[in-house]
Amino acid sequence: MCKPIIKWVGGKRQLINELIKRMPKKYNRYFEPFIGGGALFFELKPKNAFINDYNQELTNLYTVIRDCSSELINDICKHKNEADYYYEVRALDRDVNLFKKLTNIERASRFVFLNKTGFNGLYRVNSKGQYNVPFGRYKNPNYCDPENIKACSDLLKNTEISNGDFDIIKHKIQKDDFVYFDPPYVPLTATSSFTGYTDKGFDEDMQFRLRDLCDYIHNKGAYFMLSNSSADFIYELYDVDGYTIHEAEANRNINSKGNGRGKVKEVIIINY
Ligand SMILES: C[S@@+](CC[C@H](N)C(=O)[O-])C[C@H]1O[C@@H](n2cnc3c(N)ncnc32)[C@H](O)[C@@H]1O
Repeated sequence: MCKPIIKWVGGKRQLINELIKRMPKKYNRYFEPFIGGGALFFELKPKNAFINDYNQELTNLYTVIRDCSSELINDICKHKNEADYYYEVRALDRDVNLFKKLTNIERASRFVFLNKTGFNGLYRVNSKGQYNVPFGRYKNPNYCDPENIKACSDLLKNTEISNGDFDIIKHKIQKDDFVYFDPPYVPLTATSSFTGYTDKGFDEDMQFRLRDLCDYIHNKGAYFMLSNSSADFIYELYDVDGYTIHEAEANRNINSKGNGRGKVKEVIIINY
């Protein structure tokens, strides 16, 4: 049974039960255009799915797992959990020409290795798109996990994967399809936003565009479920006839340095 391959900031493992109990009873195809670590996707294991993310390393990883799992396993299991080696592998994206020479399999293998051996299992890039997480010093990080990669490869065989903006799903949506949206959250305070998923941020205009897409899905007779923070802006944005805003509590890092945890109120918005 496949489990999420990577750990992701804003991952939804914590909220899984809250999400599952609010899913529509019946739906046709499954869409997740901000897939990230895919906690809900890997839990549901949908038969007919479409996943997307703006982060290229991530969608390359899922594509490689689906299409070249044996080659990926061979490459991943060659890595070494040593600081000097980690920094060498991390530095590969400092030289654009060198990075371009890596195969998709090598890039996917690097990505899993850095995610599992880097500090806190975090993915974070700077404004130039360069990985900037320090070495994690873990005893036995589980980056070489052939069984799980094979199981995820089987699941992904029924999944279309794309890399781009979330709007990419618009022309595909049909009546009775289901979309789960888990965008970068609207920050609750000026210092609490995490912007390191991609080299671009996710601003208020993007949140407006996303609400417009929800309206489109609603008018098509399809279903959506959307997670976000409990910022006032979100309550105002989704104050729409036919939409319900539920509240749920998640354990999150509660300050910008990420070393304090506490219960944080989040919202789950549905149109059914
Ligand atoms: C909150 S995370 C998703 C977490 C995921 N649900 C999980 O369980 O790990 C948000 C994701 O949106 C992606 N993203 C940011 N801007 C985007 C855009 N314009 N279109 C599509 N994806 C985007 C980020 O790369 C990140 O993976």
